[in-house]
Amino acid sequence: MLELNYLRNMQESDLDWVLQIEQQAYDFPWSRQGFENSLDQGLNYIFCNADGEDIGYACVLTVLDEAHLLNLCIAPKFQGRGLGKQALQKLQGKLKESDFNIMFLEVRVSNDAALKVYERCGFNRDGVRPNYYSCHEWDEAKGALIETKEDAILMSCPL
Ligand SMILES: CC(C)(COP(=O)(O)OP(=O)(O)OC[C@H]1O[C@@H](n2cnc3c(N)ncnc32)[C@H](O)[C@@H]1OP(=O)(O)O)[C@@H](O)C(=O)NCCC(=O)NCCS
Repeated sequence: MLELNYLRNMQESDLDWVLQIEQQAYDFPWSRQGFENSLDQGLNYIFCNADGEDIGYACVLTVLDEAHLLNLCIAPKFQGRGLGKQALQKLQGKLKESDFNIMFLEVRVSNDAALKVYERCGFNRDGVRPNYYSCHEWDEAKGALIETKEDAILMSCPL
C-alpha cells in the first residue's frame, strides 16, 4: 500500500501544481482566486509521500473551534489507493492538536469515493442542502450534456 508521509503548509508557489490537479480532479474546479482567498483566510495543506512528492491538498476555513473542510483532493494518478483516507486522518490529527473540536463539510450526493472516505474517518450525515451544487447531466432528448443541480450532504465529525 502507498503511504502518505506528512503534510505541510500550502504556499503561493504550490498554486500552479494545485490548479493543475484541481482541473484534472473536478468538473467544477476552483479558480486561482479561490485558492488565493483560501491562502489568505484559512489553513491550507499539501500532502506528501515518503519521497517528498506532492500527492494532494486540503483547504480548511476555521471559525472559533470549528474547522470547515472546503476542499480535499488527491491527485488522480494516486486516487483509489488508500491515500484519501490517510490524508484526512492526518488532517484530523493536525486540527485536533491545534485545539479544534469539530469538523464540518459538504459533499455531493453523487461523490461515492468522498462519502466513503468521510464515513470511514468518523463523519456523520447531519442533513441535506437541496440543489446546492452545479453538475452536468446527460440529456437523452437533447443528446448533450446539460448543466443542472445536485444536493449536498452535510457532515460533521468531533475531533
Ligand atoms: C475523494 C478522494 C479524496 C478520495 O481519495 P482516494 O485516495 O481516492 O480514496 P481512498 O483510496 O483512500 O479510498 C477510501 C475508501 O473509499 C473507497 N473508494 C475509493 N474510491 C471509490 C469509489 N469511486 N466509489 C466507492 N468507493 C470508493 C475505497 O474502497 C476505500 O474504502 P475502504 O476503506 O473500505 O477500503 C479522491 O478520490 C479525490 O480527490 N477525488 C476528487 C476530488 C473530490 O471529489 N474531493 C472531495 C470533495 S468533497
